[in-house]
Amino acid sequence: MTAIVATVAYLGLEARTVEVQVQLIAGLPAFNVVGLADKAVGESRERVRGAIAAMGLALPPKRIVVNMSPADLPKEGAHFDLPIALGLLAAMGVVDAEALSEYVIVGELGLDARIAPSPGVLLAALHAAGLGKGLICPAAQGPEAAWASGVEVLAAPDLLSLLNHLKGQQLLRAPEPGDVEEGGHGPDLRQVRGQEVAKRALEIAAAGGHNLLMCGPPGSGKSLMASCLPGILPPLDATEALEVSMVQSVAGTLAGGRLTRVRPFRSPHHSASMAALTGGGLKVKPGEVSMAHLGVLFLDELPEFGRTVLDSLRQPLETGTVSVARANAHVTFPARVKPVRHVN
Ligand SMILES: Nc1ncnc2c1ncn2[C@@H]1O[C@H](COP(=O)(O)OP(=O)(O)O)[C@@H](O)[C@H]1O
Ligand SMILES: [Mg+2]
Repeated sequence: MTAIVATVAYLGLEARTVEVQVQLIAGLPAFNVVGLADKAVGESRERVRGAIAAMGLALPPKRIVVNMSPADLPKEGAHFDLPIALGLLAAMGVVDAEALSEYVIVGELGLDARIAPSPGVLLAALHAAGLGKGLICPAAQGPEAAWASGVEVLAAPDLLSLLNHLKGQQLLRAPEPGDVEEGGHGPDLRQVRGQEVAKRALEIAAAGGHNLLMCGPPGSGKSLMASCLPGILPPLDATEALEVSMVQSVAGTLAGGRLTRVRPFRSPHHSASMAALTGGGLKVKPGEVSMAHLGVLFLDELPEFGRTVLDSLRQPLETGTVSVARANAHVTFPARVKPVRHVN
């Protein structure tokens, strides 16, 4: 029997539907995952095996084949554990495959069948909303997923409580959207003494969304004034807050599903690499310039940054997006920032 469940793969700020197909075939017992899966997905076999064993169930003595379709789309991350496990349980006849077809499923599994948070749940929820489906996600990320309106969110702490809910025995409570953080805690521009011209320039830059280059002797308060900038920037509106949260969700830094109205302020150290600044690396993650989307990117001690690193910021500053090309993926992140540079 073949069971099919839906999940997503993240490409920048885009979630693409991925179908997890699980088939049990007669033959020597084996558990194979195919479909351009990265190492974390390959390892999910062991976590799924462990989680199912922790529930007191034995895997069927058959050849288990998991195919992730479309097969040419690279799949990264540990959030495929839960869809694989549920697909397998559906193929075993433990859960109703029909009930699962109503959901997009994301989540990482522990060996004890706990469902652990995984980055990008907000994107998966918005994607599910577009498909008219519900979302099954980790309990810790229920408040984050609940921000996508019109989606039925099942946020389960572990596999057993999820199965109980699907069987209608012990229903899970629908999560509430997380809080909205209004004010910043950064330094106040009031504590800067004198420097009237610099303060005025800071206000104009904040109001008009201009770039700012600060030059001056050490100790004249450049770093201090730059760190006051988030406090005088206008708050994010609702759409902007969601956009910023989507970047944070993909980066896995959206703690407790708390959305913030405060504009991001990122100040990477001058030893930062190009990948750290523009995004990418082994796993395609948003870089500092994308984390600062709709906010401020502060490059303290500008001349200390590597030349190639600074050059790599040209494209994002001009286009407002950053495209990261990898051997097997081409990913675009948003990066509309207001850079503040600081030279001595
Ligand atoms: N105009 C000012 N008002 C209040 N504190 C100041 C002022 N200028 C400098 N400082 C203080 O001096 C210290 C050094 O300032 P900093 O911003 O690091 O200087 P810079 O980055 O220009 O080298 C900080 O602790 C800062 O609080
Ligand atoms: Mg300084």
